[in-house]
Amino acid sequence: MMFPEGIKKYGTEPVFTPSADFSSVLSSFSGLDPDRLMFLPGFCDVHVHFREPGFSYKETIRTGARAAAAAGTTAVCTMPNLNPVPDSVEHLRPQLEKIKETCIQVLPYGSITRGEKGQELADLEALAPYVVAFSDDGVGVADDGLMREAMRRSDELGKVIAGHCEDMRYEDPREREWRELERNIRLSDETGCAFHACHLSTVESVSLIRDAKKSHLNVSCETAPHYLLLNRDLLEDHGRFRMNPPVQAKADQEALLEALSDGTIDMIATDHAPHSAEEKSRGFRGSLNGVVGLESAFPTLYTGLVKTGMLSLEQLVERMAFSPRKRFGIPLGKEFALWDLGTEYVLDASRFQSLGHSCPFDGWKVLGRCLMTVMEGFVVFTADPVL
Ligand code: DOR
Repeated sequence: MMFPEGIKKYGTEPVFTPSADFSSVLSSFSGLDPDRLMFLPGFCDVHVHFREPGFSYKETIRTGARAAAAAGTTAVCTMPNLNPVPDSVEHLRPQLEKIKETCIQVLPYGSITRGEKGQELADLEALAPYVVAFSDDGVGVADDGLMREAMRRSDELGKVIAGHCEDMRYEDPREREWRELERNIRLSDETGCAFHACHLSTVESVSLIRDAKKSHLNVSCETAPHYLLLNRDLLEDHGRFRMNPPVQAKADQEALLEALSDGTIDMIATDHAPHSAEEKSRGFRGSLNGVVGLESAFPTLYTGLVKTGMLSLEQLVERMAFSPRKRFGIPLGKEFALWDLGTEYVLDASRFQSLGHSCPFDGWKVLGRCLMTVMEGFVVFTADPVL
């Protein structure tokens, strides 16, 4: 395949066509309403699990990137709960090698602590040039002194700390979240470090963030589509509803929606967390925590929030594309997707590009279908014309 000079080639996979030939792509779809087609900027998802190295039976960097491209997402930040944990440049290297192949921008997190064990800090200084930010996602960092030191050093390096807030000394999941969040906000205030709270799920957390922002602290946060579109009353006894933190009560959902609308919640990240079919087949109680989220994100949020008048399309795009890039310093290149906002269809998780197919929105009737994703002049995804 010939690639035009001066255009950055993304990846090495043979899934690309070297020019964005919109008319030929469009002609393969029938029944599109031209007034309901829209170009949107490539989304940026700061919380995904691509499982490589260590757990490539769940997802690989390549399949994860393809799932992102199919979701109109052109930049992702990959969490470090891997084997080995990227706590040194040596341990990060296998990921960096794989990332060279991907069709979209994949930016790894470095871990905060060695092995994500919460006992000693990772090689933050050595990792800094290669990672987007630091996180121990999957677990909290219980030791106050260690987190203070991590924030102090991360601030010097100009990096965000993205905190999975879960203090296991408490029984109740909501208290686990807000206790560690409260501590992290305090440490961010002390050190000046940019702190980002991962996957917030409760009303208490929302109010802590709101207060922190009123005090102009260097704090941001994300929530995930399942916390915005689901609540306890809608859960079924199935592994595809199982994740950590768990979906909470209707009052929590409502507080998160309000906070998303008024900007207290800066961005939506999917926490795309694929597992094997077997690992998700053991009912709600027995299945592993984590659901796939990339390929359902925009259709479910557009249908559930924009079409119902809770959020404008501009606000949704801000929370999915611009706000995460701004906070994490990820530039928006010539990366966008063509969306059909006019054809209703049924989400079928078995057809996802991701190796993970356990999704709480499987079977939902939605509007918003990604037809094509373009990265620096290259088509990196085209939808199957057969709905
Ligand atoms: O549901 C979750 N899945 N929550 C986490 O904190 C980790 C993640 C995973 O890695 O599967």
